[in-house]
Amino acid sequence: MSGGPDAIVLGTVTDRMRARLDEKFTVHAVGTDSVPEALLGASYICCGQGGASVRADLIDAMPELKIISNFGVGYDNVDAAHAASKGVVVSHTPDVLNDEVANTAILLMLASARNFRHDEDWARSGTWEKQGAAPLSRSVKGATVGILGLGRIGEALAEKLGVFGVTVVYHNRSEKPVPYTYYGDLVEMARDADILISVAPGGASTHHIVNAEVLKALGPDGLLVNVGRGSVVDETALVAALSSGTLGAAALDVFEHEPKIPDALKTMDNVVLLPHVGSATVETRAAMGDLVVDNLIAMLETGKARTPVPE
Ligand code: DGY
Repeated sequence: MSGGPDAIVLGTVTDRMRARLDEKFTVHAVGTDSVPEALLGASYICCGQGGASVRADLIDAMPELKIISNFGVGYDNVDAAHAASKGVVVSHTPDVLNDEVANTAILLMLASARNFRHDEDWARSGTWEKQGAAPLSRSVKGATVGILGLGRIGEALAEKLGVFGVTVVYHNRSEKPVPYTYYGDLVEMARDADILISVAPGGASTHHIVNAEVLKALGPDGLLVNVGRGSVVDETALVAALSSGTLGAAALDVFEHEPKIPDALKTMDNVVLLPHVGSATVETRAAMGDLVVDNLIAMLETGKARTPVPE
């Protein structure tokens, strides 16, 4: 321990993060989202992996709090508006996961369109030997892919999609100077798209924006991919659309109430499910962990975070 100021660790941190924190802070790994009374005077909160949540009551209980350094580009686990109102900086880990999450979206798109989840079962279970070739799937070449949320990950995704022979269009809070067609109306985009990929962040402004109307517009041959936040999609409407055939298929890495996945989705053949692993590679998580610690050290040494969340 360095004897530096107290830093509260919520959730789990890697050995590398812990070693770097120990050089500058007196680290208290409390492991949960509640901070013991004796530590409420601390100024630094480090959120590790595993969904640490920092709500208004905790922020209010820590009058000296300077920074909440979040592990992840998404920060819907932190009450950032309340933190800002108290002058507490919230930082996150943008950019370092763009490639991995964009790759995950593409893999989900292909796994679903090409029916690979089903095909893998076909090969593994011996069905191939008994019944011969698996049913044909669909090509993505020529499809229109609508990206919901053209932030950093969305832009990386749009660029990568360029090699698949698809037409990329997007819906975003505002139009951007990019070579893709902009739709101000999400339903209209869903109507024109074959595949809708959501990389939108969570929070009040995106809550359930992929609703029954959007899913219906995407249509019986449409595919919904979600690698952003589960709260963007109305899961009840999604289950209804998939089971009635109003929507063709879904491929999801994120869910409304993680780690819970609606049971109905688990039984559907036209659904691919992942346990929120978009950024979960050793390399990307190490880069995210470094940035979490960099933000705390920058705050300690310069009074400013390296990557604060947008205002
Ligand atoms: C993020 O960083 O927000 C990713 O979803 C991984 O949690």
